[in-house]
Amino acid sequence: MIKWFGFSRRLCVELSIQRFCCLLLVLLPQGFSHADTDVMVNPSAGAKPNVSEPNCAVCHGSNWQGNSILASPNLYILPDWYISGQIQSYQKGWRQRAEQPSISDDMASVARALNATQIADALSVKQQLKPVASVVKKSTLVAERINQGKAAFAACASCHGSEGQGKQILHAPPLAGQNLAYLKAQLVSFGLGRRGFSADDIYGQQMAQALTWPMSDETLDALLAYISTL
Ligand code: HEC
Ligand code: HEC
Repeated sequence: MIKWFGFSRRLCVELSIQRFCCLLLVLLPQGFSHADTDVMVNPSAGAKPNVSEPNCAVCHGSNWQGNSILASPNLYILPDWYISGQIQSYQKGWRQRAEQPSISDDMASVARALNATQIADALSVKQQLKPVASVVKKSTLVAERINQGKAAFAACASCHGSEGQGKQILHAPPLAGQNLAYLKAQLVSFGLGRRGFSADDIYGQQMAQALTWPMSDETLDALLAYISTL
């Protein structure tokens, strides 16, 4: 736990939420899971005490539904193969670049501290979580714009599925139900070459190459609005 302090401090600076982070710093080493039911509850805590289980809920929410303040994605909607694959991507340095510091560096610090047992433990905790109401904000865009987004999504559906449900065979994750701000940040990352840049990252490269970039703000917003309806 102690070694998490470094990136928590950086998170403070990046997101200008010092007070929240200071609270985290105080509570983390003392078993934060029992201290604040709003931010996190560890559902396995009573049934199966497990010291090696890292507390993903601190940043991803009590049911791993994501936390928009911390810019963390909804993990609940993601299948195990994608979660473990992305942890390896962070460990290999495929989702962050030294010359482009970003929030990904924080998750990379977490990932690098995890061993195989801890990843397996984290995934077993996920089995016990409950679905929570979607945090995806429904778009206020008019139907016409949503139709524009639907047209743009045609370029995504072959890999991510027509309902945005993901396709394991292509290693493409579900997009439906994901936080829109997180999806946007990832598209920008692929577009700017912060993700999908490594020749060894086959699936990241496939995604980066499939993306027409730059994308106008208008198209991007319409696309995300359509995804929020899936
Ligand atoms: C310090 C806060 C923090 C902790 C603790 C944390 N995460 Fe994260 N995680 C993040 C942030 C922030 C992101 C988004 C990073 C980015 O944009 O690349 C993220 C992203 C991820 C992703 C990528 C998801 C995707 O859609 O590609 C996975 C997988 C993930 N985290 C798994 C975990 C697991 C499993 C744990 C517990 C072992 C955990 N995280 C603990 C902050 C955290
Ligand atoms: C050729 C197949 C393919 C196409 C077409 C494609 N993607 Fe992807 N996408 C992927 C794969 C594979 C990944 C996982 C990359 C990785 O492993 O890092 C991905 C990842 C993503 C992510 C990151 C999700 C997360 O949880 O981190 C987003 C967002 C995304 N795609 C959106 C889109 C959108 C929007 C389109 C259409 C404009 C699109 N993709 C088109 C294959 C594709």
